[in-house]
Amino acid sequence: MKLKVLVVAGDGIGPEVTNEAVAVMQDVMALGGHTLELDSKRIGGIAITTDGTPLPQETIDAALASDAVLLGAVGGNEFNALPPSERPEAGLLKIRSVLGGFANLRPAFAFKELAVNSPLRPEIIDGADIMFVRELLGGAYFGKPREYNKETGVAFNTMIYTRPEVERVAHVAFKLAQTRRKKLCSVDKANVLEVSQLWRAVVIEVAKQYPDVAVEHQYVDAMAMHLMNRPRDFDVVLTENLFGDILSDESGVITGSLGMLPSATVGGKINLYEPIHGSAPDIAGKGIANPMGAILTGALVLRHTAGLEKEAAAIEAAARKLLEQGYRTPDLVRGKDHGYTVLKTQEVGAKIREIVKQLLASSC
Ligand code: NAD
Ligand code: IPM
Ligand code: MN
Repeated sequence: MKLKVLVVAGDGIGPEVTNEAVAVMQDVMALGGHTLELDSKRIGGIAITTDGTPLPQETIDAALASDAVLLGAVGGNEFNALPPSERPEAGLLKIRSVLGGFANLRPAFAFKELAVNSPLRPEIIDGADIMFVRELLGGAYFGKPREYNKETGVAFNTMIYTRPEVERVAHVAFKLAQTRRKKLCSVDKANVLEVSQLWRAVVIEVAKQYPDVAVEHQYVDAMAMHLMNRPRDFDVVLTENLFGDILSDESGVITGSLGMLPSATVGGKINLYEPIHGSAPDIAGKGIANPMGAILTGALVLRHTAGLEKEAAAIEAAARKLLEQGYRTPDLVRGKDHGYTVLKTQEVGAKIREIVKQLLASSC
């Protein structure tokens, strides 16, 4: 098969981790006799600097002409003084809305090899396997009116959802739960917010169509605690845009690092794939970023857009093998005498490619 992917690597560690993801995808596709056609365009801070806008029309056109879009990360400290509509992040929000994917799947899988690298006790996280389904096109991110009036010192955003917006993402989450452990936890703040009361009412309604899925509802504040105390109890976690942003970063504690987490956004014209972490200005340019989130995101491209399950699973197995063999990026180790071999970003990419080749050769 032929797969056309637009790469928008963005800023900071975005290009560093995306290079590795692309190299792994290229090798894996070639080994299976498939063709990966790549194009690359600007987004975020680099696009502001070069084109005067965080999402040039050229990038939009190329995205719409591709089978999938793979994003690195956007953002940089030099843009911090800009209003939200002019920042690098605005480019990301715009490409999300242009592509139309409303269900952002953020799997948080705790590799057992990383249990000792988490600040949580291994027995708490061992076996944790959560699928966050984050609504991606609604809520406070896109709600209008929104304003920051510097003269009056008043600012506001609008957290708004409509019934169809909640319904469509709930169906994605329930269907996913049916393929997993058949449990769904919907997270809201229905004790305070009207928008969450709608959210909960719609989820209860949709749940009737999925009697085989056990449903629970949690308030987001309590959920932040439950996730740390008993992450293994959760299967699919369905939530709105802002809560999903926060809770999915929190799951970086369960998985050992934010740098381990991939995502896939589905439901629109073209799927958008991005690791969940940002541009990490504190480590950008040092060559030490963890590329596993990006590489695992590449696996999701192969699974969800190309339907290449064997190849996707081989990348995931290679990631596990690399950890088994005692290799770690610096974000995964603490202290000095940890006994691991610490690798740089490019070294992780090279090792994964080596392992994945062995795995695919032995499975033929
Ligand atoms: P961040 O995710 O960039 O970094 C948070 C912390 O995690 C930092 O200490 C960083 O070094 C570490 N980290 C993140 N990814 C890592 C990796 N792959 N390997 C090792 N360590 C990693 O979040 P932030 O610092 O709050 O934001 C920095 C910029 O990134 C901001 O401009 C923000 O808006 C942007 N951002 C972009 C995206 C995206 O493009 N998808 C996502 C989140 C944040
Ligand atoms: C993420 C990021 C983005 C978000 C920002 C950079 C717009 O934090 O993908 O998690 O809030 O969705
Ligand atoms: Mn985030």
